[in-house]
Amino acid sequence: CCPFADVSLQRRQEILEVLCAGLARQEYRGYDSAGIGIDGDKPNEVVYFKEVGKVAGLRKKIASSSIDVDKVFISQVSIAHTRWATHGQPSERNCHPVRSDEKNEFCVVHNGIVTNGGELRLVLQKRGYVFETDTDTEAVAKLTKYIYDSQPKGITFTELVKAVLKELEGSFAFVFKSIHYPNEVVTARRGSPLLIGVKTDKKLKVDFVDVEFAGQENDSKVDVPPPTPSSLLAPPTISPKVLRTQSRAFMSEDGLPQPIEFYIASDAAAVVEHTKRVLYLEDDDIAHIAEGELHIHRLRRKEDGDQTPGQIATTRSIETLELEIAAIMKGKFDTFMQKEIYEQPESVVNTMRGRVNFDTHQITLGGLRAYLPIMRRCRRIVFIACGTSYHSCLATRAIFEELTEIPVSVELASDFLDRKTPIFRDDVCVFLSQSGETADTILALRYCLERGALCVGIVNTVGSTLSRETHCGVHINAGPEVGVASTKAYTSQYIALLLVALQLSEDRISFSERRRQIIDALHEMPGMIKKVLEQDKGLQQLATTISDNKSLLLMGRGYQYATCLEGALKIKEISYMHSEGILAGELKHGPLALIDENMPVIIIMTQDSLYPKVQSAFAQITARKAQPVVLCNEGDEGIPAGAKTIRVPKTVDCLQGLLNIIPLQLLSYHLAVKNGCDVDFPRNLAKSVTVE
Ligand code: F6R
Repeated sequence: CCPFADVSLQRRQEILEVLCAGLARQEYRGYDSAGIGIDGDKPNEVVYFKEVGKVAGLRKKIASSSIDVDKVFISQVSIAHTRWATHGQPSERNCHPVRSDEKNEFCVVHNGIVTNGGELRLVLQKRGYVFETDTDTEAVAKLTKYIYDSQPKGITFTELVKAVLKELEGSFAFVFKSIHYPNEVVTARRGSPLLIGVKTDKKLKVDFVDVEFAGQENDSKVDVPPPTPSSLLAPPTISPKVLRTQSRAFMSEDGLPQPIEFYIASDAAAVVEHTKRVLYLEDDDIAHIAEGELHIHRLRRKEDGDQTPGQIATTRSIETLELEIAAIMKGKFDTFMQKEIYEQPESVVNTMRGRVNFDTHQITLGGLRAYLPIMRRCRRIVFIACGTSYHSCLATRAIFEELTEIPVSVELASDFLDRKTPIFRDDVCVFLSQSGETADTILALRYCLERGALCVGIVNTVGSTLSRETHCGVHINAGPEVGVASTKAYTSQYIALLLVALQLSEDRISFSERRRQIIDALHEMPGMIKKVLEQDKGLQQLATTISDNKSLLLMGRGYQYATCLEGALKIKEISYMHSEGILAGELKHGPLALIDENMPVIIIMTQDSLYPKVQSAFAQITARKAQPVVLCNEGDEGIPAGAKTIRVPKTVDCLQGLLNIIPLQLLSYHLAVKNGCDVDFPRNLAKSVTVE
């Protein structure tokens, strides 16, 4: 997370506030520690504030420092970061910004992992560099200095960073600041999200920025050795080359340059309070900002193959965010997770808005229209995702297979890649992700693209890597999800997948009655979710009775197996209580051994075709003295008297899981509160997992 502000004529206090507020807005991406690097009082001085834990701690540290907050800057560059540790423990020492040396010649913030960071470190150590942190990022800061020192004077900041990036492997988003290039900043990405907010009062003349193609043919003056650390033994030679492109976007309609501010961040939430106009950088883009101008340069990528620069997109458009600041505030709720659970009656409507005609029972998914014939003809559909997004695939797989009559396999992205799963041109691969930035899912997408499969994205975050790199897709429109535990994205993904299945089956007369039944049920969904939410108090009491236990088992089968897995994931990730989702059909094959009078169990027994089989699982566990809580339908009189129940309205079988998960979300929430856990920031986790 790297908010940056290039601000003119501002008090230091205001600059710090911009940075702290930006960090706090994207803190959910990582909250092990936070740090800021700003210009000091003297030329070439950089002042750092670093603190382990939340941004609130960093704010306190700044407030208690003796720094002159009234100092006014005409132009300056400040960088900041919240960290989710990958290399080196969360500690002040390992906090970003990370510097190249005591003089702060180069100062870097970084998201992602530089996988050859260890090798670079060794090579640089051999050359006399002494490391002060355990981070992979420090190797990048020092490498920047190394290349700078070995070049003739006059190299531009962009050329320098370009040479550094060519040495790096892995995934990253960087922001670089340097005393050698005061009031300039360079930012670049490969694999980790990065955007630039553009703030100006006047109307811009054009809505895009030209990209200077910096490919090999074009870049003949740059002679950088091959990207292995050993190349450092022979210092690269880079001839000075001034890169100047006209920043056409930043002229007003009257042709005059604009007073302008730029905000670099990994997430739109960090910039939306300053501007709604953003430009998403692509992999291997290098953006340079100085003197109110933004220039984008692009390294040649392997994927570009033999394409000439003319065949590669050479503009980046400036998009207008639809995000409202209220959507990323907690409002009347105690936590984001609670707010997001309560938003579900509206978020599911937003997923369906403009797509479902409840009168004609028709579905229109504009983003898929051109690809429907290919999808209908494919030989199999492969769902690929991680975590909760994976569970939404499991939850809808059966209805997908039923309506499309196409075999569906469901894959965890990491395992899919580990197995080097065979993928063919006539496969359709569907990628599910709330953030659209999950590293494993993105890698799986690129793997499938290389093999020629049609790749479909079902994503919440507009402008994310997954939504940009898939051939087509559906935005789930659940609105920003800030709580680390995914709730409303799950129910919206569930609905989006169902809509895709309904759309694919629209030409099948034999399914028209089934489709009608499901679409009618979708219409009732928001009202039913509200009814489930009314049980919050009862679930809070239930949490009190089980919070002292070490473990909680959730059991169900058919559609409800996914509900059990998702409920168990929610419980363990935010309350730290061990919880396991068990397929009731597997009970006798092992899990029954766990059952006794002390083991708390929730059994999902809502009324579908598998109801009798779950009744028998209920009998088997009660015979072993378990006293399960039964999650069942309102008005079901078949539940044995005396059993504790959680009652939910009855809906069509393939949508019942969407209602059943809500009490489990609420239960996990109350268990976490009861156990004193930080609901929105569970330990060791981050919202967007942008590293493998
Ligand atoms: C759990 C949770 C994670 C994510 C997973 C994938 O509550 O949020 O399991 O579902 O990290 O993230 P996305 O959906 O952003 O790809």
